[in-house]
Amino acid sequence: MSSPTASTSALDLTDPTTFVRYDPHVFWAEVRDHNPVYWYQGREDRPGFWVVSRYVDVVASYTDAARLSSARGTVLDVLLRGEDSAGGRMLAVTDRPRHRELRNVMLRAFSPRVLGRVVEQVHRRADELIRRVTGTGAFDFATEVAESIPMGTICDLLSIPPADRPDLLRWNKNALSSDEADANLYAALEARNQILLYFMDLAEQRRASPSDDVISMIATATVGGEPLSIDDVALNCYSLILGGDESSRMSAICAVKAFVDFPDQWRAVRDGDVAIDTAVEEVLRWATPAMHFARTATTDFELRGQQVRAGDIVTLWNLSANFDEREFDRPYRFEVARTPNKHLSFGHGPHFCLGAYLGRAELRALLTALVGTVSRIESAGSPRRVYSNFLNGHSSLPVAFTGR
Ligand code: HEM
Repeated sequence: MSSPTASTSALDLTDPTTFVRYDPHVFWAEVRDHNPVYWYQGREDRPGFWVVSRYVDVVASYTDAARLSSARGTVLDVLLRGEDSAGGRMLAVTDRPRHRELRNVMLRAFSPRVLGRVVEQVHRRADELIRRVTGTGAFDFATEVAESIPMGTICDLLSIPPADRPDLLRWNKNALSSDEADANLYAALEARNQILLYFMDLAEQRRASPSDDVISMIATATVGGEPLSIDDVALNCYSLILGGDESSRMSAICAVKAFVDFPDQWRAVRDGDVAIDTAVEEVLRWATPAMHFARTATTDFELRGQQVRAGDIVTLWNLSANFDEREFDRPYRFEVARTPNKHLSFGHGPHFCLGAYLGRAELRALLTALVGTVSRIESAGSPRRVYSNFLNGHSSLPVAFTGR
């Protein structure tokens, strides 16, 4: 175990306010240079964990599912408190061989027919929202636009009745992060339970009378020759709604914030100097909505000269890897024309994001709607960051759009 430099030990990676108070890029650049894999010393009753910061090491760790398990949990906060109760049942926290089988079921549920329908609705929704706010003066892009796109998409995918959507949005907001520094843990747990109970009900209904939506498909599929339990169907729906809302929302907000901060890059997109799909990849790298994912070592092994022991928590920092100067030229420059752009915002390897196609489609719809309607994007106040050591981004972004 190496002893961290003064500055690497100074930042508390478990504290949600850390990423609001400090510029993470200064910290991570130093970690990558001087302590690319280091042991974060546990504090009080919390265990310590490995911090992996360089692009090549993060890629190798994501790939190495045999020695780095997801089954105890993949979010640091959860692992520090014990283990994920959904381990072995929810896709993201299941290891091979069950992971592969469950993933195939869920992938089949994302059929081109279902996705095609959902993507069409995404474009319609994005167009309508952007038209509504353009030319109206200052508004909060986070609450008035970004909040509706991903949640609408995932609800369409799951065929959630419109009347239930506001409740889901509210629970979802409380479940992963909070706008308040002193957010209480109980409210987050309560919100997660409510989502699960809601999906258990819906899963029962869809199993009894299935249609072609994703919940019906999961509820009627078999894994290991057995149908999934209603609890497991609910857990996997829960993972879609959480994965499908927050990270997409953060990346949409980040897109507009980046266009405010780099007006020349907005002009390049607006004037058609760069393909929208290329710009979408740079937005994803720049946003890195999931700062880290975590694993648990299944065996002793060496990682960049460090001795990892079976049972150790290993955190893979996408936020650092996506700005690693060994992989990306001028990483701190938002460059919509950047190619190649092999960012890790959707992870890598066997757990690569199941919703990547939809996540990209949502950003493509947003950028297309902006290009079609908006000429100028300007700041109209101070953005507010999310308090989280997992989710990266803003919960408020006051801006003004001038029409074309
Ligand atoms: C997995 C990010 C959108 C559902 C992941 C992982 C990342 C990620 C980094 C890998 C986790 C790991 O290795 O432990 C993102 C980002 C998104 C996004 C940045 C948007 C910009 C979505 C959407 C959905 C979704 C729209 C659902 C429709 C999932 C699921 C997994 C996953 C189910 C687990 C896959 C597995 O374990 O095999 N996501 N995601 N995500 N994501 Fe996404």
